[in-house]
Amino acid sequence: MVSDRAIGIHDLSFATTEFVLPHTALADHNGTEIGKYHVGIGQQSMSVPAADEDIVTMGAAAAAPIIARHGTDRIRTVVFATESSIDQAKSAGVYVHSLLGLPSATRVVELKQACYGATAALQFAIGLVLRDPVQRILVIASDISKYDLDSPGEPTQGAAAVAMLVGSDPSLVRIEEPSGLFTADVMDFWRPNYRDAALVDGQESITAYLHAVESTWKDYTEQGGRSLDEFTAFCYHQPFTKMAYKAHRHLLNTCGYDTDEAWLERAIGRTTAYNRVIGNSYTASAYLGLAALLDQADDLAGRPIGFLSYGSGSVAEFFAGTTVPGYREHLRTAAHQEAIDRRRPLDHTAYRELHGRSFPADGGDHPTPSQTTGHFRLAALRGHKRIYEKRWTH
Ligand code: COA
Repeated sequence: MVSDRAIGIHDLSFATTEFVLPHTALADHNGTEIGKYHVGIGQQSMSVPAADEDIVTMGAAAAAPIIARHGTDRIRTVVFATESSIDQAKSAGVYVHSLLGLPSATRVVELKQACYGATAALQFAIGLVLRDPVQRILVIASDISKYDLDSPGEPTQGAAAVAMLVGSDPSLVRIEEPSGLFTADVMDFWRPNYRDAALVDGQESITAYLHAVESTWKDYTEQGGRSLDEFTAFCYHQPFTKMAYKAHRHLLNTCGYDTDEAWLERAIGRTTAYNRVIGNSYTASAYLGLAALLDQADDLAGRPIGFLSYGSGSVAEFFAGTTVPGYREHLRTAAHQEAIDRRRPLDHTAYRELHGRSFPADGGDHPTPSQTTGHFRLAALRGHKRIYEKRWTH
């Protein structure tokens, strides 16, 4: 079932961090056989934020090229999805709104449901465009995945932001109805307000994710969705890239198909290139999967893509999108590769030092070391207020 009016992703841009930690450095430190990281979980390296980077600086860096290309005229809503929130009250999107010079006649809000938040933002954006097709919505998904040092989750850290411009007659991907939905109250992953690293029951989270895959698919089918063999590729939430393969294998088996490894590779392989070197970017990760697919596949024009968004806790959604003819002219492949290549490698000691950083809660003036070479930086925490600045490099 395809919606009458074409609404979807008009532009997509991502940003990541100043630093990168290769998994070889982690393996050398903790004595892990590197095959566990490279093959077992499917990760090569992880993005690590500089002391003066956070979800706001990444979100602004992801969205700035979209504003540069399309202007601000039609954007009246910004939805910022994150689970690594920097404030319990103020939306991180308001800082981005200011850094990008968006008009004051804008509504800005933050959304949270673990790694599912960006999909809620996308669907809510589509609802707003349905009401007024002239408007465009800026959706920003920005997250820093952080687990305790020396915990099983540590090799599945990462950080990135994806910005998407949602509107009618999109240039990249038309999002279709229906969606398959699923919610279940499980404690597979959570982060109490007093912690900055998440708590996770790793094996439980994999089981809960797989259960959500079959449950969303069941609902998607009952709602009149496409059949499985119509899809060219599937963008799964990728806490680690191997998870996308596990999830798709499970979906194939649920639908009664044998797991053909070549078919699995065709459906999933092209969605993993960015996540494999960036690591888990929580709610941005499924859309980094989309970016990798669009940037690398030869020609997907008119082909249906499946999306499976899973957020621990848990909420999940399966939906379809169709690539728009001519989409390749609107891609940002070179800029995306540059965002990955420009990262500076960290040694293990420097990584641990950054991991352990936190601001004192005394309300004093705490400037951050100048580390990022990106366009935006978190300059200080002063009187409990985060101070951001632009750092134009040219
Ligand atoms: N060469 C190749 N593969 C190897 C290996 C080696 N030397 N050593 C281990 N492996 C494989 C294991 O067989 C396993 O593969 P499988 O799952 O296909 O069986 C994989 O590497 C991971 O090993 P495992 O022992 O399960 O790792 P772990 O106990 O350290 O935990 C996670 C892995 C993902 C559970 C853990 O990193 C975690 O908790 N991450 C955060 C939560 C998360 O990402 N959840 C996902 C759903 S949201």
